[in-house]
Amino acid sequence: MENRSLVTIANYTKEKLLYLIEMAHEFELNPNRKILDGKVVATLFFEPSTRTRLSFETASNRLGARVIGFADPKVTSGTKGETLKDTIMMVSNYADIIVMRHYLEGAAQYASEVSPIPILNAGDGANQHPSQTMLDLYTIYQTQGTLEGLNIYLVGDLKYGRTVHSLLTAMRHFNPTFHFIAPDELAMPQYYKMYCEKNGIKYVEHQDFDSHTIADADILYMTRVQRERFTDLMEYERVKDRYLLKKDMLFRARANMKILHPLPRVNEIEYSIDDTPYAYYFQQARNGLFAREALICDALGITLEDIRNNNK
Ligand code: CP
Repeated sequence: MENRSLVTIANYTKEKLLYLIEMAHEFELNPNRKILDGKVVATLFFEPSTRTRLSFETASNRLGARVIGFADPKVTSGTKGETLKDTIMMVSNYADIIVMRHYLEGAAQYASEVSPIPILNAGDGANQHPSQTMLDLYTIYQTQGTLEGLNIYLVGDLKYGRTVHSLLTAMRHFNPTFHFIAPDELAMPQYYKMYCEKNGIKYVEHQDFDSHTIADADILYMTRVQRERFTDLMEYERVKDRYLLKKDMLFRARANMKILHPLPRVNEIEYSIDDTPYAYYFQQARNGLFAREALICDALGITLEDIRNNNK
């Protein structure tokens, strides 16, 4: 049987990404369609989340599915020693699809190999966050009118930030130029730089973060320093406030430049920026609903045509 799990965005072709963007757009036009009537969606969150879990659950509810799951693994039998495999096998007895966030890189891949039902990776450690990437692509397309040939600046924690790893992987189809702005300690890992080289993705590395550096950005993608991934909290303290985007850094920005952030923000974007036309991170998070409606449907074998023909 075809494995319809979403573990990494790297598995998706350009056509598939564009198809899912079209599907997400269909859901933006009408997010309430009872196309998952009778289905059960399980959300298993082994790590904290606000947006990803709530938008997956809202997506399920708006499509007529029921939701089971947990937001805190401490309330599960994992605390008694139950393995991830057994947890997945149990939940697959009850649900039609599993959305899982886990703190270990590779956990989603493993779950997809043992699960008889589709797994949607809602973030695995510092590795990948493919559903975030779908909403990021949707947002970039929505704001720029294209995904082709854009200047995308990734700022902050490029080492542990799984959202930037996934975004970079997906953008290989669209001839981007990436600019990596990070302190040495949080630089883009060699693995992803080699990935860029292998896939013909242009990139430039910077340490300065000022109005000149970001003047030709189409997308300025800010990220939080991922405190939870540090083994040395002193190092976290040294780097955590290195890159703060201030309003007075935007006066050279392109008219249509948009600031994205997967959120939560801690101290990366001044609050005064929220009211500027550049800020787009709250709309970006809103798009998570539509992108995740599309991903759930696709994983359950529901097509764009099915959605357009659905009258419920
Ligand atoms: N962007 C994101 O993954 O947010 P949450 O951690 O709140 O789900």
